[in-house]
Amino acid sequence: MKHKIITSICILSLLISSEALRILVCYPMTSKSHSILGYGIVNRLLEAGHEVVHITSFPNGKVVPNLTEIDVSSIADVFKKDADGVEAFKLKNLIGKGNFGDSALFLYYVYTIHRNFLEEPSVVKLFSDPKEKFDAVVLEWFFNEMNAGIPALFNCPLIWVCSTEPHWQSMRVMDGITNPAYTLDIFTHNKLPLNFWQRAEGLWKVVKKAAQVLILNQFEKRAYYSIYPEIAAKRGVSMPSYEEAVYNGSFMLINAHPSIGGAIKLPQNSANIAGYHIDKLKPLPKDLQKIMDEAKHGVIYFSLGSIVQSDGMSEQMQKSLLNMFSKYKQTVIWKFESDMKDNVPANVHLVKWAPQQSILAHPNLKLFITHGGQLSTSEAIHYGIPLVGIPVMADQVLNMISVENKGFGVKVTLSEDMIPELDAAVRKVLTDDAYRKKAKEISDLFHDRVMTPGAAVPYWIEYVVRTHGARHLRSPAVDVPLYQKLYLDLAAFIAVVVIVLKKAVKYLMKKRNNKKEKSH
Ligand SMILES: *[C@@H]1O[C@H](CO)[C@@H](O)[C@H](O)[C@H]1NC(C)=O
Ligand SMILES: *[C@@H]1O[C@H](CO)[C@@H](O)[C@H](O)[C@H]1NC(C)=O
Repeated sequence: MKHKIITSICILSLLISSEALRILVCYPMTSKSHSILGYGIVNRLLEAGHEVVHITSFPNGKVVPNLTEIDVSSIADVFKKDADGVEAFKLKNLIGKGNFGDSALFLYYVYTIHRNFLEEPSVVKLFSDPKEKFDAVVLEWFFNEMNAGIPALFNCPLIWVCSTEPHWQSMRVMDGITNPAYTLDIFTHNKLPLNFWQRAEGLWKVVKKAAQVLILNQFEKRAYYSIYPEIAAKRGVSMPSYEEAVYNGSFMLINAHPSIGGAIKLPQNSANIAGYHIDKLKPLPKDLQKIMDEAKHGVIYFSLGSIVQSDGMSEQMQKSLLNMFSKYKQTVIWKFESDMKDNVPANVHLVKWAPQQSILAHPNLKLFITHGGQLSTSEAIHYGIPLVGIPVMADQVLNMISVENKGFGVKVTLSEDMIPELDAAVRKVLTDDAYRKKAKEISDLFHDRVMTPGAAVPYWIEYVVRTHGARHLRSPAVDVPLYQKLYLDLAAFIAVVVIVLKKAVKYLMKKRNNKKEKSH
């Protein structure tokens, strides 16, 4: 009898532990690459048998079992209507400009997107419905922490996903600010090891950005306290303070891997999952399959990603690129998003949309000319393809510095007259076999892990739910204020002791001298 009870308890607990979870995944950022990362999380959770509610600016519209989509694409309307803003993001207008990601304007833009998201009626409706229950909430960490109140509404753990290399701004919420002496800023042009001035620059960036964030936090806080309590009241829960919510992440999944990026110090409650978004390989469309199969000298694939597109370049640059490509014996597949006016050489094939992963997987592909986005670099190394990178903005410079350092590609500086430099880089990577070998070697490192990145996504999310928020993995550093980490209190204490001692010594000396004088 006893045995029977124990066995049935065991079976029951097994059933419970493998029970399907209901998970909320929020990817409000209104750019395609972020949404690809969001779909990566959603797909891996669905494959593991869980139910997902996905808030996205890029709804798929297809009916998928166990998936509910909430469309928040309208939150970007304000920006789409801003013709000057759209024009400013064309490639030709970005040349020679500073990195938009590094500006206060960027932080304000991201804040506005998130605020619009939290006030979007369909989102408010979902959050306010007391019948809606979730086991965990997955949020993209993207230079904003206002969303951290969502898990508190559902009384469930928060799992962040960092879309880039880990850096001091993202790790701040899990473990505190990483040391700028050896952790690169995400928008840097420097590489490790840093010299004296570069270290100073790194520290200055932290101080400057921290001041910006401190100001922005006032906006975020005000929004947090004006948006959440009303919804919480409808659900019958009370909200933690803004700070408590922001620093209460149970886990951070990081879209990075040391094989392609840096070996950055991470807290226990985090995992590198770069490559997790890569789906099972889909066959190429027939025309591309034929082009790639028949390319006797191999194929070069050229794409500048989804934010800054090829068709935003100047006519002059288009012409020079076509001219450059026409001299290659390789076939070139160029992702060019609109109709081109110029005559296209016979070896160049323009596609408005490119099945990037399937192109990268084709054995005839020799080289990928990229903007160096984190998705493109990780997809390239998944298939062991060497790169020539023309970084435009955001984390692309840092990514390409790393690629060049590791020896599987060459970085080219974006400019109107970059063609000679680009041409030299392309020829170098095509002819020097070391790049291809290195790409294969690093691809092996990329794949050599305890578990595949795709499996790590449901694994860690289930782990967090199973362990009720994985409190045991939480870094003690997040609960220690900065002045204590820097021992500023100790320094102040020592300063006071020294001053008091000095004063005391002076006083005693004076007293002794007085006594001596009197006794004379
Ligand atoms: C949908 O979820 C249920 C559990 O809620 C699970 O049993 C089923 O396999 C899932 N369906 C699919 C297609 O994943
Ligand atoms: C922090 O997260 C844990 C785990 O999900 C939860 O139990 C706790 O209530 C949260 N604390 C606050 C202040 O929200």
